[in-house]
Amino acid sequence: MNPGAADLLGLFPPGTLLADDGTLVVAGCRLDELADEFGTPAYIVDETALRERAREFAGALSGGWPSSRVVFASKSFPCTAVYRVMAQEGLGVDVAGAGELVLALAGGVPARDMVMHGNAKSDTDLSMAVEAGVGTIVVDNFDDIDRLERLVTGEQGVLVRLIPGITADTHAAIATGHDGSKFGLSPADARRAVERLRGSDRLRLDGVHVHVGSQILDAEPLARAAQAAAALGDFDVYDLGGGLGVRYTYTEHPPTVAQYVGALTEAAREHLPSGSRILIEPGRSMVARAGLTLYRVLTVKRGEPTFVAVDGGMGDNLEVSLYGQRFEATIANRVGGGDVVDLVGRHCESGDRLIAGVELDDPQVGDLIAVPVTGAYCMTMANNYNGALRPPVVFCSGGTARAVQRRETYDDLLRRDLA
Ligand SMILES: Cc1ncc(COP(=O)(O)O)c(C=O)c1O
Repeated sequence: MNPGAADLLGLFPPGTLLADDGTLVVAGCRLDELADEFGTPAYIVDETALRERAREFAGALSGGWPSSRVVFASKSFPCTAVYRVMAQEGLGVDVAGAGELVLALAGGVPARDMVMHGNAKSDTDLSMAVEAGVGTIVVDNFDDIDRLERLVTGEQGVLVRLIPGITADTHAAIATGHDGSKFGLSPADARRAVERLRGSDRLRLDGVHVHVGSQILDAEPLARAAQAAAALGDFDVYDLGGGLGVRYTYTEHPPTVAQYVGALTEAAREHLPSGSRILIEPGRSMVARAGLTLYRVLTVKRGEPTFVAVDGGMGDNLEVSLYGQRFEATIANRVGGGDVVDLVGRHCESGDRLIAGVELDDPQVGDLIAVPVTGAYCMTMANNYNGALRPPVVFCSGGTARAVQRRETYDDLLRRDLA
């Protein structure tokens, strides 16, 4: 194994190894056998890694700030089986609208442990949340307050979403904490919302929410959000959002969970009331590394550049097209480099290029390609472009694999037609 291969293994779920014949083994399951059983493309998830990550976050946060809760940002991987894992691990769950609420309930997440978000919540979103008993609804605008005043009959806990005025180094499409963001309220408007909510007899103002953005590789701006939240006043609850970045490539070095939580709790000790409760909402950093996508090579077009085209692409991974996110890849039974190629998808856009300039070892038609770190924001944005069938989600643990969501079928493509 060359040093590149060792680096690459470090992007896969912890414990991933190579069998004697050079085939990747994830959670005790050989990737070639998974491809035979479940087909390709497929989202492969190391369930043990998922659970261990949930425990790592929960342990770090409760160690640093006892009155606290990790709330999984489910938009990153809204699969019923993932909700079930998070519920079993005792985490709360954030849902962005009624659809994720339905999935979370199906996954066994108690509604009281949910936080509902959204910059544009409909009557349906809010009435379903209220009816289900969602513990916390994050007020993003004054229309949320109007709607809730109309819909709530008992008492509803709410947080006010504040724009913290923090510009972090990330892709523009996933930055949310800067002045002028479409999410949340400016400090002046947030103060008005606080005043209004304090006068409400049905909406119980628990505190304030901030979220700086996603894929942020430095804990400092994430911690700084605690200070911005504190400036809004003393509350029982401070929800500091998500945003911790993950290592997609060899050059990225995000803080560890312990470093990230340490920075947040240090800022909290400095700025927040000591008896307050802290929530954090990790999404990407919770699930990304537990997942990988398995593809099969359909064609190799040698030239300048050489195109290695697989049986998926932007139908199962929009991170590349939306944010230009860089991934790495390997042939599943020949880990290591060799030829520099463009790994492309099968969809009818030149932008459907999964990885430009990735090293693969003499790629051939029929080879299996593994793209690591696809557990976050891939399944959730999977689509039917060009009639693509959305891939199955396969959970692996201790050498056993089971599909927790099946592959779509052509019948599924026709299922919603009325004429
Ligand atoms: C309100 C809120 N909380 C949490 C998250 C999760 O962020 P991440 O997946 O970067 O941890 C998001 C997504 O951007 C979000 O909008």
